[in-house]
Amino acid sequence: MIIDGKKIAATIQQEIKESVQNLSARPPCLAVVIIGDHPASQIYVNRKTQACESVGMRSLKIELPATFSESELLAEVERLNQDPAIDGILVQLPLPAHINPNRITYHISPEKDVDGFHPFNVGKMLIGELDGFLPCTPLGIKTLLERSSIDISGKHALIIGRSNIVGKPMAALLMQATPGGNATVTVAHRHTTDLKSLSLLADIIIVAIGQPKFITADMVKEGAIVVDVGINKVADASKKSGYQIVGDVDFEHVAPKCSFITPVPGGIGPMTIAMLLHNTFLSYRQRFPTKN
Ligand code: GUN
Repeated sequence: MIIDGKKIAATIQQEIKESVQNLSARPPCLAVVIIGDHPASQIYVNRKTQACESVGMRSLKIELPATFSESELLAEVERLNQDPAIDGILVQLPLPAHINPNRITYHISPEKDVDGFHPFNVGKMLIGELDGFLPCTPLGIKTLLERSSIDISGKHALIIGRSNIVGKPMAALLMQATPGGNATVTVAHRHTTDLKSLSLLADIIIVAIGQPKFITADMVKEGAIVVDVGINKVADASKKSGYQIVGDVDFEHVAPKCSFITPVPGGIGPMTIAMLLHNTFLSYRQRFPTKN
């Protein structure tokens, strides 16, 4: 069965929209900072700000030149931290090489850290206090599984990729002793030997490595659940654009073996955006705790 991430994300966005419509105070506002002209980042940032508008939230897109210095960016983040009209702050990654992303992440107020990247929020997640901000892609995957009535308790989950944005937090969420957790988790990466023997044991495979069609049918056990986080642009002369977007999974051949699989596009991408809106709303609620 193909899990329709786009549809589930649209349902969540509709729920958030209704909550926003019922507010009597100002609407929630997300500030999105983008530095330089990384083409994929431009697309992702536009999707994020458009999603805010579509649920009645405000968004502030701050576009800065690639030459912006680290100290100038820290000052910009500080300004947003202090601004009472801003609920969420997101600095789009990757940053230009002369800026240390960790220094920026540390500087974003943990109370406005809707990406869930600040060490305070990462630490809370790791110790099982899940009321901080959780990173949008892993939270989106967990939510997608829950809303598809897939119980992962006791199952063997293989996460391929150990990034701070997906792999590491995904492992932390799936292993927690909380609903939607309780999985047995293995994390594989570029130094893993004999990945296939691990993947053939896995009940759930979550792959986030940015390698087109890396997971092939021979690597997947019959009835497995496969979650594809990859977004890869590959040349395709038959398309008007000259390219197509594919995931990290060879969907055509892997799908027939799976009990559930997420497509690309239309799987995890829309869930990530829905979770960003969810986190922005949560942040707003902490600022305006009353019902309306
Ligand atoms: N770059 C790729 N994914 C993300 C994300 O979830 N948040 C931010 N800030 N940058 C990203």
